[in-house]
Amino acid sequence: MNCILLGPPGAGKGTQAKNIVKNFNIVHFSTGDMLRKARKSDGVISELLSSGQLVPDEIVVDIVKKSLERNGVERGFLLDGFPRNLRQAEQLDLMLKSKNVKIDKVFLIDIEFEEAVNRIAGRRVCECEASYHVTMLPPEKVGKCDYCGADLVQRNDDEESVVRDRFTIYKKQTEPLIEYYKKTGLFVVIDGLKDEKGVFRQISSYIL
Ligand code: AP5
Repeated sequence: MNCILLGPPGAGKGTQAKNIVKNFNIVHFSTGDMLRKARKSDGVISELLSSGQLVPDEIVVDIVKKSLERNGVERGFLLDGFPRNLRQAEQLDLMLKSKNVKIDKVFLIDIEFEEAVNRIAGRRVCECEASYHVTMLPPEKVGKCDYCGADLVQRNDDEESVVRDRFTIYKKQTEPLIEYYKKTGLFVVIDGLKDEKGVFRQISSYIL
């Protein structure tokens, strides 16, 4: 099973991606996670992430290409946060064609702006990539990661004004992908307003 998760910031892509890869034993490719790693040694990427801007397509496409090579696609995979615009979608098509691999499903996690803002405001993350919500998915010990015990922090692109910019970019650059993927017949809309289990149940029902 090879799939793509689309959705606005805070829709729950990262949360569901973890559930999907664990339950269906496929590989998770998150460009957000990859870029957050890359920012540690790259000031330009760091600045773009902090301001909520998209990283240039050439950089992201190259990172995804290398990651697909490294991890392989045989087991099935989930793309989370990629593609982000039409150019990236076309590049992905070329990449997959060269490997003779097809996408089976494209899920859009649909959510209202206000709910996404609430979720992002309560999100706390750990260096180890675990993610929590202060009320909806709290850690066992306040402010500490359940897995590694490190301090939880707010992502620096989760500040309200940056979140607004991320939404504007989503509307302009990423939403056109909905029409692009509708034409493929692989496109499915998931009600992202349900709780975590409810969203996962909907997605699972489409995964063979
Ligand atoms: P990325 O990390 O991909 O961020 P995003 O798309 O803005 O999405 P988020 O991570 O904010 O939200 P999410 O949908 O994963 O929600 P989550 O599961 O955490 O990208 C970050 C940046 O990297 C971009 O701005 C850009 O700069 C760059 N970038 C990435 N990919 C790129 C690309 N392809 N090209 C160029 N640049 C790129 O959930 C949010 C909160 O809600 C959590 O606290 C969670 O616990 C909670 N929650 C989740 N589900 C539920 C639920 N059902 N009910 C209640 N609470 C829930």
